Amino acid sequence: MLRTDLPKIITDTLPGPKATEIIKRRENVVPSAIRCGYPVVIDRGEGAMIEDVDGNKFLDWIGGVGVLNIGFSQPEVVEAVKAQADKYFHGMFNVVTHEGYVSLAEKLCSIAPVKGTEKKAYFANSGAEADENAVKIAKSFTKRPNIIVFSGAFHGRTHYTMAMTSKKAYAKGMGELANGVFRAQFPYYYRNPEGMPQDAALDYYMKSLTDVFEQCAAADTIAAIVVEPLQGEGGFIPAPIEWVKAVRRLCDDNGILLIADEVQSGFCRTGRMFASMYWEEAGVQPDIIATAKSIAAGVPLSAIVARKEIMEAAAPGTIGGTFCGNPLACAAALKTIEIMERDHLAERSCEIGKKVTERYLAMKEKYNCVGDVRGLGGMIGIEFVKDKETKEPAPELTATVINECAKNGLLVEGAGVYNNVIRFLAPLVITDEQLAAGLDIFEKAVVTAMEG
Ligand SMILES: Cc1ncc(COP(=O)(O)O)c(C=O)c1O
Repeated sequence: MLRTDLPKIITDTLPGPKATEIIKRRENVVPSAIRCGYPVVIDRGEGAMIEDVDGNKFLDWIGGVGVLNIGFSQPEVVEAVKAQADKYFHGMFNVVTHEGYVSLAEKLCSIAPVKGTEKKAYFANSGAEADENAVKIAKSFTKRPNIIVFSGAFHGRTHYTMAMTSKKAYAKGMGELANGVFRAQFPYYYRNPEGMPQDAALDYYMKSLTDVFEQCAAADTIAAIVVEPLQGEGGFIPAPIEWVKAVRRLCDDNGILLIADEVQSGFCRTGRMFASMYWEEAGVQPDIIATAKSIAAGVPLSAIVARKEIMEAAAPGTIGGTFCGNPLACAAALKTIEIMERDHLAERSCEIGKKVTERYLAMKEKYNCVGDVRGLGGMIGIEFVKDKETKEPAPELTATVINECAKNGLLVEGAGVYNNVIRFLAPLVITDEQLAAGLDIFEKAVVTAMEG
């Protein structure tokens, strides 16, 4: 059964013959700007496994980039979507109310750790849309035009989120970007400025934020500060909790809303239903959560949750959209969250994260190319360097590790400002045997990359 199988490559070459044919057809009709470096054409997916059209079996540690925390084709989610499909696919929430939307909003309001007691939620289709909507809501509530985002941030590829996203390779050739988006430095403690003692770091990064008030836009013009609780694309960097607390204080002192972009970190990935639950445990909360990815096990859906008074500030007609809160997606999300709670996937995320971290730390001891290992729960990054002392990034070695893994049936993805981090985002339903097999393939790939 694919769900419990181990990775196995059976073709002489990758991609195999059938996959090669389909990839050629892709190249003919799909823009190459939608990049794909992997030799995989999926035939079916179960749990943490993909079988390709040639019968090769891959262990997937990318999980659709954080979409498949509950795994491919979870049977109960499939049934829930089928049952909804038998009734109706679409309702358009501006025209007909469907109960799935309301039930999912109720559920999210009950579990999302945003500030306030009475909460409201609404839906969009993608992470970028959720982030844009969170900012729209914050602007409506505060009546302020500007926001602050961070170095290394990724918030999407729509026109507004291209301005929010740090890496400008994602906006190349796309013309003038939106105004009123200012950037401060994210606390990337592994790469603090040279010679800076660790106890000076917090002040340094907070000054980078308050410098925005001095040099870019006055504090009373800032509607929101947008934080990824654990930066994804930027290199799997957890936001230090003492920094989050200081940012929260800064927001409170200046009437600014704190938005948690939980698009990648939500839904058990970090060992909690939401990563900002770690903030809550430390006594602080975001005002708005934007989330997506694993919410509906792969059916497109995203969500925005905040307290009622913030949500009610948006003028009628300014939010919503044709497909937002699609009934199939809401059915999938309701079942997904139910299973995550019932099967304790947050706890499983911690168990998996512990095993991966232990193995990565052992590799850090052994190999000079492993510079840093960091993460929360089952969201872990390993950063590769040319030398532990200089910390010079090793993007070529990182690319070789990714290719070597794929050749041996393990899919992993890079990240990081310097393209030298590999992310661990395996479905949380991965079996212990699969995890052990994946770790062996991964370590072998690192050794091969070092030798090459
Ligand atoms: C933290 C974060 N925000 C926003 C996005 C954008 O999501 P989408 O690609 O669904 O628009 C992503 C996607 O990777 C993300 O990781």
